[in-house]
Amino acid sequence: MTLHEYMAMQQKTVDAALNRWVPPESTNPETIHRAMRYSLFAGGKRIRPLLVISAADAVSDAPVGVESAACALEMIHTYSLIHDDLPALDNDDLRRGRPTCHKVFGEAMAILAGDSLLTLAFEVLAKLEGVSADRRIELVRELAVASGTVGGMIGGQVNDIEGEGKHPTAELLESIHRAKTGALLRASVRMGAIYAGADAAQLAALTKFGEHIGLAFQIVDDILDVEESSEALGKTAGKDAAQHKITFPAVYGIEQSRKMAEDERVAAHLALNIFDDRATRLRELADLVVKRKS
Ligand code: IPE
Ligand code: IPE
Ligand code: MG
Ligand code: MG
Ligand code: MG
Repeated sequence: MTLHEYMAMQQKTVDAALNRWVPPESTNPETIHRAMRYSLFAGGKRIRPLLVISAADAVSDAPVGVESAACALEMIHTYSLIHDDLPALDNDDLRRGRPTCHKVFGEAMAILAGDSLLTLAFEVLAKLEGVSADRRIELVRELAVASGTVGGMIGGQVNDIEGEGKHPTAELLESIHRAKTGALLRASVRMGAIYAGADAAQLAALTKFGEHIGLAFQIVDDILDVEESSEALGKTAGKDAAQHKITFPAVYGIEQSRKMAEDERVAAHLALNIFDDRATRLRELADLVVKRKS
């Protein structure tokens, strides 16, 4: 199976699971369920769920129910995007090729849609049936820390917002990127590994892999913001420079940033050396993270 076919298959599995976890639009109060579904099913790449599943597959044969753990990641990610787009944050009109959640449902409902996806993610983990209670707790802890204020997604978003217009230093840049984006990508890989019962050496290797692709992912996001059109990205291009964000291109220029993303890709591959062919999909996903055009 080609990577393209594998991704299409897993995306279907994940979308079906998301559809089961999120209350139907007809459930009262309807507006919030419409808003949650509007953003969730707007056509995201589902990179984080794919990493959860592929990391689990690298450890053991297709663990049953792992797609639900993958859904929790996509819920947190989608919530982070809904809030990232709010007028008080990046103030964006376009996301996943559609008007942003607050443009369609209003700010109050967009805030609540983000909140409810955040809450639902932990409900999903608490209700996982395929793993022991011990592993469920580990998964909850992993996702909570990665989404949180200390080195996690929220912490990174705070540094990103407070960094606007500040002199961009290399240290500040890397800490923003590792936290706002890297933490959830690292957690995706680790959660797949934990779900599948990875031993200490496997978890350590996959953690390294997750850190390298996490950084690569945001370097590339910054490059795409400069180089691609809004149409290609499905979100407003050129926003980072307009908002004086601290980005890789701003600090290092495009060529050097590209090289740094490539270095992270190579390091990600190296981290997988203890795995054989089982990690082929993870290797391919690392390549995709760096070569993607949207
Ligand atoms: C965009 O993430 C926001 C970042 C964290 C850089 P993705 O590029 O994964 O967005 P979707 O999920 O495909 O829309
Ligand atoms: C967003 O980073 C990261 C999170 C949502 C946590 P960006 O602000 O660069 O993401 P885009 O470019 O709007 O997708
Ligand atoms: Mg942002
Ligand atoms: Mg943004
Ligand atoms: Mg961006």
